Amino acid sequence: MEENRKIISTSSLEIVPVEKLDAVRLNLLQLASNATDLAYAPYSNFRVGAAVILEDGQTFWANNQENICFPVGVCAERILLGYTHANFPDLKPEILVITAKKSDNSASATVTPCGLCRQSISEYERKFNAPIEILMNRPDGTLLRANSIQDLLPYQFEDLNK
Ligand code: THU
Repeated sequence: MEENRKIISTSSLEIVPVEKLDAVRLNLLQLASNATDLAYAPYSNFRVGAAVILEDGQTFWANNQENICFPVGVCAERILLGYTHANFPDLKPEILVITAKKSDNSASATVTPCGLCRQSISEYERKFNAPIEILMNRPDGTLLRANSIQDLLPYQFEDLNK
């Protein structure tokens, strides 16, 4: 049988050692890490913090907020980007840093955004027609860097009229 044609997508993530971060990104990492400590995660005990810098240089942070009715809980990234877009709808988010702590709070944990958060981040990239750099902290002293949500969410749902 003849083989069907294929679409092959490639994505690349960079592994960045913490000591290679510039001052702006290092500051965001610190803000996200502080926010992680304030997370409200009594059900999963997985604390997540996120920090963002907007195009005018303002920085904001947030963390996950859980609920006894589990699906009501909201991830750090969506709380953060919802807040910044609610208050500064004309300012593009440029860099997003995400950190997490292990459930026993002993050390940092690997974190990558969940599917809902990827979809949410993609909305803001599309609105501003500009990529958002996403830095995801890892316990080994490195961060994964995606230059755009495209690298984490290929073939995203993005057009209601096509
Ligand atoms: N969580 C986030 O806040 N962001 C992520 O990127 C991954 C998951 C939260 C949701 C829930 O409160 C807890 O982590 C465990 O899934």
